[in-house]
Amino acid sequence: MVVALTVPVFSLMWYHATTTMSQRTGWTQSVSRQLARNGRANLLRDGAPDDLEIGGEFVDALNRFAATAPDDLDIREASADAARRFLSAVLAINPYVELDASDRRRVQAVYRDSAERILAGEPVDRVLRSAHYPALRTWLAAKYPDSVRIGLQDRYVLGQITYAEYPPHLQLRVLGLDSRRIAGRVLDLGCGRDAALVRYLAEAGVEAVGVDRSLDRQEDFLVPTSWFDYPLEPDAFDLIVSHLAFSSHALYQLNTDGPECDRYLARYGDILGALRVGASFVYAPSLPQWEERLSAARFTVERWAVGSGDGTTASAVVRSAATSSEPGEQIV
Ligand SMILES: C[S@@+](CC[C@H](N)C(=O)[O-])C[C@H]1O[C@@H](n2cnc3c(N)ncnc32)[C@H](O)[C@@H]1O
Repeated sequence: MVVALTVPVFSLMWYHATTTMSQRTGWTQSVSRQLARNGRANLLRDGAPDDLEIGGEFVDALNRFAATAPDDLDIREASADAARRFLSAVLAINPYVELDASDRRRVQAVYRDSAERILAGEPVDRVLRSAHYPALRTWLAAKYPDSVRIGLQDRYVLGQITYAEYPPHLQLRVLGLDSRRIAGRVLDLGCGRDAALVRYLAEAGVEAVGVDRSLDRQEDFLVPTSWFDYPLEPDAFDLIVSHLAFSSHALYQLNTDGPECDRYLARYGDILGALRVGASFVYAPSLPQWEERLSAARFTVERWAVGSGDGTTASAVVRSAATSSEPGEQIV
């Protein structure tokens, strides 16, 4: 699997407080140019903080800003905004990096600290190279499995992982499902920003719920959260689907010996525990290592090839009608 990451550069957005419209336009252009300079540079490369490019006009803009900013400027909101931009750029390059609230707090603190130092008169270049980039790099390095991080050490520039959303009919075909036969309560884990399959099923009268960390719309049947945080009650669903989502992330952890492997395995058990008797968890790609560990008395596993013969398979794990789970029971 190709893994990549980016270096979105320092973009302090707390300028709203003090500037005029034309100053802001100039600032925005300067930040965009700076972002473009290091768009695909590899922050994890040995020596990266020193050889990242920092534009002179960007440094001038920051210095001008530091000279005119009021002493009591509140930079919390701006630091949070800059941290959000940085994290979404990290995910745009490698969506398999797992982020939670503590990551947001940590990255935000890096931006706040750097902003405070620049406002206090420290040279911009020194703050970026000796504090800001190294702090982001330390944080990012810990989010990468060692095997991947080491493989990236010599690369200056990185590619991007394909990570797309698909129309409902294609998802149903890969998952071997016929929408006319779907009934009861359905959950789509990692349904995508557009939640295309959930919408399609809801329009067909199915009681479907979609969960995704990237959902930006508020609708009753969409839950904008992580699949780790969504409450999965036992015996709750007649069908759970996840097309190129939960199991892709679990496989990334498995294949790279990633730090979140156990967490994914535990969640896989929770998902299977949320199936009603006779219900299935249908997903692509397959997770053969875990499927083989399931009790044959309690689950039936079916696996089939999808796509153009590159070896990708999809799986359905059906909870056997003969058994029922105990609350808190470990499944895998
Ligand atoms: C490749 S897309 C597939 C989307 C959809 N299933 C489809 O096939 O069109 C994977 C989705 O998983 C979501 N995702 C990744 N990690 C997640 C997490 N921890 N919790 C919830 N959703 C997550 C992403 O936001 C993305 O929308």
